[in-house]
This record gives sequence, C-alpha cells and structure tokens, in this order.
Amino acid sequence: MTIRLVSQYDYPKGVVVITGGWSAERHRSLLSAQAVLGALHGMGVRADTVDLKTDQRELGGRLDGVDTVFLAIAGRGGEDGRLQGYLETRGIDYTGSGVLASAVCMHKLRAKSIVRAAGVLTTPVATAVSHQVKVDVEAARIVDLLGPDIIIKPVNEGCSVGLRRPRGNDELIAALLDASSTDLMAEAYHRGRSISVGVLEDETTGRLDTLPPIEAETAGRVYTQAAKENSDLCTYRCPAPLTDDVDKAVREQAVAAHRALGCHGYSRHDFIITPDQRALWLEANTLPGLSHKGNLARMAKAAGISYEQLVSHILRGARTDRRAQA
Ligand SMILES: Nc1ncnc2c1ncn2[C@@H]1O[C@H](COP(=O)(O)OP(=O)(O)O)[C@@H](O)[C@H]1O
Ligand SMILES: [Mg+2]
Repeated sequence: MTIRLVSQYDYPKGVVVITGGWSAERHRSLLSAQAVLGALHGMGVRADTVDLKTDQRELGGRLDGVDTVFLAIAGRGGEDGRLQGYLETRGIDYTGSGVLASAVCMHKLRAKSIVRAAGVLTTPVATAVSHQVKVDVEAARIVDLLGPDIIIKPVNEGCSVGLRRPRGNDELIAALLDASSTDLMAEAYHRGRSISVGVLEDETTGRLDTLPPIEAETAGRVYTQAAKENSDLCTYRCPAPLTDDVDKAVREQAVAAHRALGCHGYSRHDFIITPDQRALWLEANTLPGLSHKGNLARMAKAAGISYEQLVSHILRGARTDRRAQA
C-alpha cells in the first residue's frame, strides 16, 4: 500500500523547535531536534531551537509572535501534556497529540486500559506497584498475580529507563525499592519479538496510514535503554519479517490504539509478538524520536518517505485542540 503524502503546502514562516528538557530522554530529544532543524532549513523554513531546560526562563519571550512549534522532545514535562497545555494557553499550534492524549499515553497503565477497552490485545495483566504496603508483602502479591517472570517499569518513563526483569525475590524487592521512580508497574514477562509500528495521520482527511513495522533485536531479549542508545547493541529490520496475518494485525492494532487514545498527527506503537504469533500492544509514544537513525525515520524510509517528507508531514499536522474544535 502506498502512502499519499502532501509534500507541498504553505509552510509556516517561522517555526520554533522545542527540545531538551529534564527527562531521562533529554539526549534523544536533542538528537531529534538537530535532525528536524536540518530538515526544516532544507525546506526553506526559518527555524530555531529552544531547550526547555537551559532556555526555560526565556521560553515565554522566545515564543512571542510564533504561531507554530515543532516538538522534538520526549518524556516527562515535554511529552506528557504539560507543554502542550502551555502552548494551548498561548494559542500556538504544535506538532503531535493534544493535552489529553499526551497525558494518557505517558501513563502506561491508563493507556493500556483504554486500548484494551477498544478491543486491542495487550499484555493481559498489569498492575500498579503499591508503596502503601510493606515491600515483601507487595512482592508476594505481584508474584502471586503474575508468576515469577516479571517486568518492572516506571509507568511514565520512556526509552526503557528503569525497566527491570528481576531474577528471584531479592532482585524483585530491590526493583520495587528503586527510588528512581515513584510510580512503578509490573507485568508478566512475555518472550517474543519487539516490534514498533508508526502511524501517520492525514491532517485534511483524518486518514490513518501505518508505516512498515520495524523489529529491534537485542542480545538480551529485552529492548533495553543501552540498546536504544547504542545501535551497535541492536539489529533493526524494517520491514520486519512478519507473516501477512501478523503484519496486518499489528498495523490494525496500531491504528485502533491511535484512535482510542485520541492521538493526533503521528504516533508509534510498541508490541511484543509472542512465539504463538499474538501481537501484544505495550505502549504508545506520542512524540517518538526523530533522529535520522530513529525508528520512525527508518520506517518512513522503508515506505519510500524521505526524512524531509516525514518532517513536512508532521509539521503540516501542527495545531491546537481549540482550532480543531472550532
Ligand atoms: N511485559 C514485557 N515482556 C517482555 N518484554 C517487555 C515487556 N514490557 C516491555 N518489554 C521490553 O522492553 C521494551 C521497552 O518497554 P516499553 O513498554 O515499550 O517501554 P518504554 O519503551 O517506554 O521504556 C519493549 O520494547 C520490550 O522489548
Ligand atoms: Mg517502548
């Protein structure tokens, strides 16, 4: 299936690329911004970057007179609806999803329940880790619910930050005590292949297209933070070698999840494909990384979409919620 992209439209005269910030994904954001800025300049768009961390005090002034922001930022504070809310208040169009979808997708458990209610197959049981009870009692509850092979991860971090697969009770307790994040979740470990699917939304028609699924294969079976930051530790295959049925299923589920979560513009959905060929939805990324080596750029390339076309498409979707409702 070919994806029809409108490559020519009246670009905004000036764009501010917001990047950086404080989250664990700061480095990834800066790489995205560098690549996006290059593409915007290549398109003849006047563009400048603002780092949410180092330029925080000047942010208000730097946005004076600006009508479009390109978000090349990820993680808490940038991808979770807060920044989107600020831009709404300022009446400035921005790329990607609105406040609500951004906030919901940043909370993996909430997002999962919405997507599951829409009929998408997800990892079957997931639970919030309680800090109200003694840690050994909580560890016993989790093992009782999920069995011994467990993934512990923060509900609201990306890029595999804080993700653990504890071996045995001591490691489970250590993972639960990990103070790096207060909100943790637990789910059963599912052996399988890590697959991502990108969704592109047509601003005019609302049509949702999927990009060819990408597979990330790592030595350790779990797609870790180290693997994400060092492409030598990971082999990417795009299009992922999937059976026609699984390829169709992940694409349909990614579109259904994008819709159910109320995402806008574009999104990337992560799945595990189990050995019995079930596609289990894990999470949505409302501002997936946009570096040249990032998943979305690789998927776009496999669909015959250049990096510049991808950036142009995302820019074209920039809006505020208010404008959409008008
Ligand atoms: N329940 C699970 N079973 C097996 N692997 C998992 C599970 N949850 C996450 N993973 C692995 O960890 C990676 C990162 O998890 P994910 O939920 O996508 O969070 P994030 O990418 O935001 O850190 C996945 O791509 C997958 O390889
Ligand atoms: Mg992920």
